[in-house]
Parts: sequence; C-alpha cells; structure tokens
Amino acid sequence: MSKIACEIVLGDILKKPNLVIGLPTGRTPLGLYRNLVWVYKKRKISFSRIKFFNVDEYYPIKKRDQNSFYHYLSKNLFNKVNATASNIHLLNGETKNPKRECADYGRKIRENLLDLLILGVGVNSHIGFNEPCSSFNSRTRLVELSEETIKRNSRFFKNKKIPPKALTMGIKTMMSAKKIILLASGKEKHSALKHLINGSVNEKFPVSILKRHKNLIVVADKKALGRG
Ligand code: GLP
Repeated sequence: MSKIACEIVLGDILKKPNLVIGLPTGRTPLGLYRNLVWVYKKRKISFSRIKFFNVDEYYPIKKRDQNSFYHYLSKNLFNKVNATASNIHLLNGETKNPKRECADYGRKIRENLLDLLILGVGVNSHIGFNEPCSSFNSRTRLVELSEETIKRNSRFFKNKKIPPKALTMGIKTMMSAKKIILLASGKEKHSALKHLINGSVNEKFPVSILKRHKNLIVVADKKALGRG
C-alpha cells in the first residue's frame, strides 16, 4: 500500500516539483512517509520546492508535545528530507486565536490550491477531524472531538488528557483539491470504506463525500476492503 501510494506521489512530484500537497497523520501513512524518505535519499528527489499543508491538529497542544501533528510530521518527514521551512504550513495548535489561525490557513490554501491531498480515515469515518455530521460545506475551523475519537485516541496520551478539540481543514476545502488519495488499512476501517464505496453520500459519514470527487484514488488493503 505504502509503495503504491509513494509511486503516485512521486509521479506527481516529478511532473510538478513545486507541488502543493496536503498531508495526513496517524498510523496509516507512516509507511508512505518512510518510502518518501527512501526515495529522497536513494533517487535524489528534491522536496525543496514542494509546499506542504497538513490536514488537522489537536487543540490546544504544544508543538513540542510528542502527540502533536507538528511533531509527527517533523519527525517522520520534514526533518528527513530537504523540505524548505517557509514552504511548510501547519495548523498551529498553540495559537491563542484559533479563529484567526483557521482563517489565515484557509486563505493560504485558497492562494496556493491543493494539487494533491492525502487522507486517512477514522473508524467512525471522519476525515481529518471532520467528525460525523460535519457539514460538507465546512471550511478550516475549530471543532470538538467526538466521544468516540477521544476514547480511541486517548491511548496515545499516556498520563495526559487528550485535548478536547482540534483544528481541521474543512470538507469543502478538502474537496477543492485537484486530486485526493485516501489510504485505509485494516479490518477496523472496513465499515468506513463501505460508506464510501457502497453507501450513499451522507453527512453522518464524512468519508462518503469523497465519492463525489472527480479524481479520487483509494489505496486500501484487503482487510479494509472486506476481502481478507
Ligand atoms: C486521526 C486523524 C486523521 C487520521 C485518522 C486515522 O484521528 N484525525 O487525520 O486520518 O484519525 O488514523 P489512523 O491512520 O491512525 O487510523
């Protein structure tokens, strides 16, 4: 899965070295990041002109917190390739003014236009932190995490309380990307994928909106597809 996703991303970088790309976090894309780092080292592919955005961030959270998505992306990608600091635009979980942070972030994305957006999916079918019943017209904003997500992701916050909120790219913004790659792996993602592949488009299942995107690639393993 990660190799296939990496080949697609690589193809896009080779076609457009100043690609504008939106990045997910979580367990699923770790293999993709490992492959991209390998490609950078072995095939001397430059990341210096790529513009990076991320999909979501806990709120509030310090950048240096091991669970921040800032920390995750720095550790797994940016610190290992030749990314240019001024090309990295991540949602800031430390901001005192989340409203302004989201507005600035949304403006930056509108100015740059996402060429490629890579997404994971939650067990409850959230994309980014757009939880079930998020509006399909939503833009980047501060959201409350669902009880299910708090329960599920609490295990990563050893001895600490998980932040109750998050900043997330909105669904409308996601849908404005020219191309989307959705990554899904494991049995626990099967029900979410079913909503995308067989279900109807419904705000109760945020991932289902991707069915309406004109250039969506789903990279999934057999378990997530319910065939393994
Ligand atoms: C998290 C993030 C998403 C991510 C999803 C799946 O809570 N908000 O951006 O895509 O859940 O994570 P994982 O790949 O670890 O299953």
